[in-house]
Amino acid sequence: EAFDVVVVGSCMTDLVSQAPRLPKAGETIHGHKFFIGFGGKGANQCVQAARLGVKTAMVCKVGKDFFGDNYIQNFKDNGVHTDFVGQTSDAATGAASITVNDAGENAIVIVAGANMLLGGEELRRALPAISRAKVLVCQLEISPQTSLEALRMAREHKVKTIFNPAPAAPDLDPDFYRVSDVFCCNESEAELLTGFSVSTVSDAHRAGQELLKRGCGAVIVTLGPQGCVVFKAQESTSKHVPATAVTAVDTTGAGDSFIGALAFYMANYPALPLEEMAHRANQVAGLSVRAVGTQSSFPFRRDVPAELFAEQ
Ligand code: RIB
Ligand code: NA
Repeated sequence: EAFDVVVVGSCMTDLVSQAPRLPKAGETIHGHKFFIGFGGKGANQCVQAARLGVKTAMVCKVGKDFFGDNYIQNFKDNGVHTDFVGQTSDAATGAASITVNDAGENAIVIVAGANMLLGGEELRRALPAISRAKVLVCQLEISPQTSLEALRMAREHKVKTIFNPAPAAPDLDPDFYRVSDVFCCNESEAELLTGFSVSTVSDAHRAGQELLKRGCGAVIVTLGPQGCVVFKAQESTSKHVPATAVTAVDTTGAGDSFIGALAFYMANYPALPLEEMAHRANQVAGLSVRAVGTQSSFPFRRDVPAELFAEQ
């Protein structure tokens, strides 16, 4: 069976509290709402791609527990292939404690648990899917060696790769740049990886240029409401792709919605210029910030304007 998009990455149960502001160290504050949702950057990206209408498979590990069972059902409900979703009794399903303030900003602590037990053995089992995919997507909520190995496997089989270095690690193996067709990060990740401060579009130009030099095929630095900046190795210029203004209710997972949409376009519309894919992915992610939660807020194909599915 061949898949358009294969994600090798994380699953987390999101435990979300909405509060007027983020608490300080040692402080207790009253929040106004609590809910549990399906999250984890890998799974979020995979589900967004699936909802836009591509065939997806997830390569990941959850615990042999209630949250793990529920997560597998969630993949099925979203049409994500689950043959490569493993269950282990050696660790619990990953969890994320998320606080969202009234401005829609968040602070997150993840306990990756079972995600960290995904390794080479599972990748070899998934090789038939990885090697025939159109696009492979990886992040950093699983062991970095596993991500790197998956990206290398994809590259060997001429599968396009998207790497999202999130959450950012300052000591990133330099090979990650060389195996990324598209290296896609947000402002804080770009900052950590380059040492440059990144808040404006011109900062992003400088940081992106530096990341591109490290060997990626292309770099996208996302800037939230300011859109993103796109760099391609074959071209000496970078392009700013502005985003349309939206009122943010909850920005959690907007970056994942963007990457899931980007994977969808790379798989299904490979002839579109990368900046056009980024422009459309911005609009998909813009829809996600209008509702609470991560996957709970990600649009389905029917929620997305028809022009985002035009051939050019
Ligand atoms: O990017 C958002 C995600 O980060 C959340 O779903 C949470 O699980 C953390 O992994
Ligand atoms: Na959201």
